[in-house]
Amino acid sequence: MMFLQHKNIVLGVTGGIAAYKCAELVRRLKDHGANVRVVITNGGKAFITPLTLQAVSGNPVAESLLDPAAEAAMGHIELAKWADLVLIAPATANTIARLSAGMADDLLATICLATAAPIAIAPAMNQQMWHAIATQQNIDTIKKRSVHVWGPGAGEQACGDVGFGRMLEPNEIVQHCLDFFDDNHADLLAGQHWVITAGPTREAIDPVRYISNHSSGKMGFAIAQAAQHLGAKVTIIAGPVNLAVPDNCQCIDVQSAVEMHKAALSQVANATVFVACAAVADYRVAKVSEQKIKKTDSNNAMNIALVKNPDIVADVAALDNKPFTVGFAAETQDVEQYAKGKLQRKKLDMIAANNVAKQGQGFNSDDNALMVFWLSGQKKLALTNKVELAKQLVATINDRMLDD
Ligand code: PMT
Repeated sequence: MMFLQHKNIVLGVTGGIAAYKCAELVRRLKDHGANVRVVITNGGKAFITPLTLQAVSGNPVAESLLDPAAEAAMGHIELAKWADLVLIAPATANTIARLSAGMADDLLATICLATAAPIAIAPAMNQQMWHAIATQQNIDTIKKRSVHVWGPGAGEQACGDVGFGRMLEPNEIVQHCLDFFDDNHADLLAGQHWVITAGPTREAIDPVRYISNHSSGKMGFAIAQAAQHLGAKVTIIAGPVNLAVPDNCQCIDVQSAVEMHKAALSQVANATVFVACAAVADYRVAKVSEQKIKKTDSNNAMNIALVKNPDIVADVAALDNKPFTVGFAAETQDVEQYAKGKLQRKKLDMIAANNVAKQGQGFNSDDNALMVFWLSGQKKLALTNKVELAKQLVATINDRMLDD
């Protein structure tokens, strides 16, 4: 989601009934961090007011090419240059025809000609109009000019017809934006080396028994996948997990905390980022029995002496040439207080805290929610699947590194 952070989107609203969904679309784009400036056509104004769009976008809505006040504030060429993406939603058959013809007789059409940014449209029209040869030829023409065409969807239409022509829902359009910027960020982390610990550790008691926890490795592997997807070289140091290694990631398998400690310190020398997502056992058995410990009639209780394991993330953070070091905090109460304590005590750059007492998130679930803290700030990453959450966390880490 954070891949729309700092992204400038010019949203062109044209005259279709689906324009009423644009307030929601603007809100969703902003939720994902985008800056949105709306350009509305005369047709668009028949379906939604500029005032509504101004309120939700937080920016004045541009309506006319010939408005001296608007041109003085942010002229059409400035808007065209400001945009990272020009998104037209809804895009009517008329708008598509005018795009195809290269018209420049209103503000939106002019911006489309004047921008170097990519253009995407979400068509919305009657199904017969969508299938009309003229519309389809116009679509072919603009696709050849690299305009992205998102949708339309099929279903019941405002006019009562059923078929293709419905504008995609706001969340579907936002997903297209996310995928679009995601693909265009394939080299965002190029040249960086991320080292990520994942999964549980196993602390042997004897040859057949061990102390461990419920970590599945899903969160750590998702972070690895997200960082790799953005072009980083990724090394995972994984405790015993049952997961496929994400494409193009190196994975070092370990069992115990001591092994994970050794592997981590051997990998971080030239690393850019270290993410300690593993659920590392704080203690290990002081003396591992060489033989299976036998139950006897006389011992109704058993005491196993434990000694402290090395703190992997704290040792990485203490290195002279340390990578940007991110810890996790798995808490069941007072999440913020404990997480902030770990951030300071372990001298981390950032900590991602999760409440592992909540049902359906944390250990061994597909979903999670995180509260991320650093010394001067914090950010909430809402409950979602771990793959999506990992993308948000990786983007947050990258943003922080750029700010430092
Ligand atoms: O693997 P999943 O099933 O997907 O679940 C994900 C998760 C719940 C395991 C993950 O989101 C998570 O919270 N990981 C950290 C678990 C943990 O051990 O937290 P902690 O609060 O006990 O440790 C604090 C930090 O110190 C962690 O970054 C941990 O990796 C690190 N640590 C702890 C002990 C130790 N000896 N060395 C360490 O590096």
